[in-house]
Amino acid sequence: MTELTAVILAAGEGKRMKSTHSKVVHKILGKELIRWVYDAALKAGVGDCILVIGHRAEEVRECMGDDVKYVMQEQQLGTGHAVMQAVPHLEGRKGTVMVMCGDMPLISPETIRNAYETHISENNAVTILTADFEDPSGYGRIVRDSSGKVVKIVEEKDAEPEEKNIREINSALYCFETELLIDALTGIGSNNSQKEYYLTDTIEILITKGKRVGTFKIPNNYEIMGINDRVQLSRASDIMRRIIAEGHMREGVTIIHPESVYIDSDVRIGMDTVIYPGTILEGDTIIEPDCIIGPDTRIVASKVQRAAEIQYSVVLRSSIGELSHVGPFAYVRPGSVIGKGTKIGDFVEVKNSTVGDHTKVSHLSYIGDCDVGENVNVGCGTVVVNYDGRKKHRTRIGDNAFVGCNANLISPVEIEDNAYIAAGSTITDDVPENALAIARARQENKEGWVLKKRLNRSKKNS
Ligand code: UD1
Ligand code: CA
Repeated sequence: MTELTAVILAAGEGKRMKSTHSKVVHKILGKELIRWVYDAALKAGVGDCILVIGHRAEEVRECMGDDVKYVMQEQQLGTGHAVMQAVPHLEGRKGTVMVMCGDMPLISPETIRNAYETHISENNAVTILTADFEDPSGYGRIVRDSSGKVVKIVEEKDAEPEEKNIREINSALYCFETELLIDALTGIGSNNSQKEYYLTDTIEILITKGKRVGTFKIPNNYEIMGINDRVQLSRASDIMRRIIAEGHMREGVTIIHPESVYIDSDVRIGMDTVIYPGTILEGDTIIEPDCIIGPDTRIVASKVQRAAEIQYSVVLRSSIGELSHVGPFAYVRPGSVIGKGTKIGDFVEVKNSTVGDHTKVSHLSYIGDCDVGENVNVGCGTVVVNYDGRKKHRTRIGDNAFVGCNANLISPVEIEDNAYIAAGSTITDDVPENALAIARARQENKEGWVLKKRLNRSKKNS
């Protein structure tokens, strides 16, 4: 295979987005539009990628970093002008240039790959990716002669009435032979209704020079959907959400109600995991096989190990061990590592803590900046008091410890292995191994007190 380079156009303003941000950094399922296009190109086998930027260039650079080369188009004088800016990077290169738009996030790697292979096998100078649209309005039309050969692409604004009836449209994706593209670009002008340098004019120029122009029909029309406003953003997001969900289902994940499940593009899910409605999986989350996730659960950039169950809960940048149960209504905050067969029950918040294997934090507790050992029982209402108003402190609870209900552990404090904390204690000092700590006022019963109280009251009233 010869070399394949991509030129992605992303200099346009994107006014209809009504945003202070560049259009192409808006996201679909956690990933910027421009990243979707770039990732598809990479997966299709593109080597180098040149990004034409202009409006909000800094933001696009920040998003793409060093992954691509940048060229600046100071003034947006048309798609042809945009590609001209990339010429200095293309000169001397052999092979094919794939021209793409930064606002077409649904284009698939397979389509790019298949179009490229067609381009090579047909030995074309250019291969235009086209589609047949019920309603072609707004698009450039593919004009063919009576034998079906492409003659030119005409923009809607420049089209004759009969040309407007053509339903085959230009997707604005093309494979060009590099040298022929560079040469054809020198021939285009801006003598048209929009006073722009049209990239589409290179087609007629190549034909005049006797070069082969081919087309490749895109299998799914949605793939070339361009994002111009927030409505299209949400439609594209819906389509991608469904594609992603179906991809996981095909790999053996059960998704009970895919319409209500959001899974970011980079999430990985193991076989026989069941995803209940209302689940949102974000970032580079990994869910191992046999898990049960949801309903109504948000997991961000976390790892959930085999056969764990998480329901009605939020888990952020943490890891949940094998066979553990989280929720309902648990909040696992960043930096937490939950062990195997562990229970983080209802209304439990865990932050920046480790909770060992087979430990139970069953209800209504706060575990913050704490290392909890294995086989620990943390009673209902326990609070690790990690903050003194100025600084956070860390506490340790050893293996097999028992923390009675409603205990306060004033950090930093060390509860050693097998220690026992009486319910209602406020622990300020370390508790040695195997010791019982009681830190609460002793109970006193005042015999007959109620009767005396009642007597006093009736005296007052009389
Ligand atoms: C273009 C095609 C049209 C095709 C349609 C598909 C031309 C002349 N027309 O029209 O045949 O059917 O796409 O969507 O090419 N851009 C720049 N710099 C510029 C102008 C545009 O970077 O000076 C970028 C835009 O950011 C955008 C892309 O090029 O990503 C397409 O530009 P746009 O103005 O939307 O082209 P259309 O008029 O829609
Ligand atoms: Ca457009």
